[in-house]
Amino acid sequence: MPQEDNYVIDQMISAKSIAARVESLAFEISDYFKGTDKLVVVGLLRGSFVFIADLVRELDLPVEVDFLETSSYGDGMESSREVRILKDIRGEIAGRDILVVEDIVDTGHTLNHVVKLLQSRNPARLEVCALLNKAARREVDITARWVGFEIPDEFVVGYGIDYAQRNRNLDHIGKVRFIK
Ligand code: PRP
Repeated sequence: MPQEDNYVIDQMISAKSIAARVESLAFEISDYFKGTDKLVVVGLLRGSFVFIADLVRELDLPVEVDFLETSSYGDGMESSREVRILKDIRGEIAGRDILVVEDIVDTGHTLNHVVKLLQSRNPARLEVCALLNKAARREVDITARWVGFEIPDEFVVGYGIDYAQRNRNLDHIGKVRFIK
């Protein structure tokens, strides 16, 4: 594995493009769930914390926010494919409309595990919104109803996404480029 400090970050998606896309996603989601008595928006920690914060402020719906934390990557770059629930949601979701918010879908193992877990609790409707989708890396058959951006198989950081817990606070999505 490359040294953690031997890299630079090249901009891939600007803060402005993200903001515009978040606005249009929120418009589509608000239309889809129109009339709901309460939408429970479930963010997957830690990577989705920036995205969910921006997204819920654009939703024109009665919203409750909850969080679930999984771990699969640790501090490395490769998924162990073993998804563990580190923190479960606090609220009851039976009969409720649920929107799962994910920062990035890579192999799909995390989302697959979380969707199965939440579906087993009998929500009314459960849909997924992912900011980024790396379809080329998919190992399980799972799709998000709403995707912000389709991206190639690059190691990305920023807007909540880390490399070794760093760079989550970048306002844009960047591509990690390792240097000697
Ligand atoms: C990352 C990312 C997604 C997941 C995607 O989370 O935030 O949740 O991996 O990978 P997959 O589709 O291959 O399962 P990670 O476990 O690194 O935790 P983090 O969100 O706290 O950074």
